[in-house]
Amino acid sequence: MAILMCRPEFFGVEYEINPWMHVAVSVDHALAEAQWERLHRTYAALGVPIELAEPVAGQPDMVFTANAAVVWKRKAVLSNFRHDERHGEEEHWNAELVQRGFEVHRLPHDIAFEGAGDALFVGDRLFLGHGFRTDLEAHAPVAALLGVEIVSLQLADPRFYHLDTCFCPLNESTVLFAPEAFAPESAARIRDLVPHVIEVPADVAAGFACNAMPVGDTVISSLAASQLESPLERAGFSTVELPMSEFMKSGGGVRCLSLPLDLGA
Ligand code: ARG
Repeated sequence: MAILMCRPEFFGVEYEINPWMHVAVSVDHALAEAQWERLHRTYAALGVPIELAEPVAGQPDMVFTANAAVVWKRKAVLSNFRHDERHGEEEHWNAELVQRGFEVHRLPHDIAFEGAGDALFVGDRLFLGHGFRTDLEAHAPVAALLGVEIVSLQLADPRFYHLDTCFCPLNESTVLFAPEAFAPESAARIRDLVPHVIEVPADVAAGFACNAMPVGDTVISSLAASQLESPLERAGFSTVELPMSEFMKSGGGVRCLSLPLDLGA
């Protein structure tokens, strides 16, 4: 598994496009760098190859590589960001992916879609969120372009504005998720379709515990994941808990900072 990351060189909270972001709250830049480096080192120690995207001045959210695109078997569907503030990232993500040999597809411009932030595979089935950043109208074209079966899930709580803030596939049959973040039918759908679910209370998910990355049997997450150690251990996983305070000020955690590049390979 290779993961795409982007150094937080130009990271900051310079606008407010989700309920976590407050321009009045200052980001400790040195601390953000240190938290990011620690995540980078953690992946390296687990043997995960890391690829680095070039940070761009004036694009403070490029550190959140999960939002670049959804990728599957060397194909990518590029994001069409909901907010103007992030539109400038699209050409850079396109270049980063083309340069790595991906066949990059785009949706019509009037359909919002935010990549792996709202698109997560459980095995070879793609779970897609809608309601805040991604339009429901994006789901069918993404399925057609990637040639995969999809499940549409409606997000219902603005704190969990991306699917990856409240839903984390751990392996082909196990998902960590916060039922309260979903419309009731969507939560029921997840319980129906996934053989093993670990349900996370909303207050724990609000610490970005579900914004996690599994590497084999190790789950890398924020400090809030300390509250999930026993259920994860019972399911056969150990946890690495990393401080993510500076990125949480922007509404992101471990998963948002990471885009797996070789899914379906
Ligand atoms: N500030 C960023 C935004 O609001 C955070 C993105 C977090 N990314 C994610 N995959 N959840 O767009």
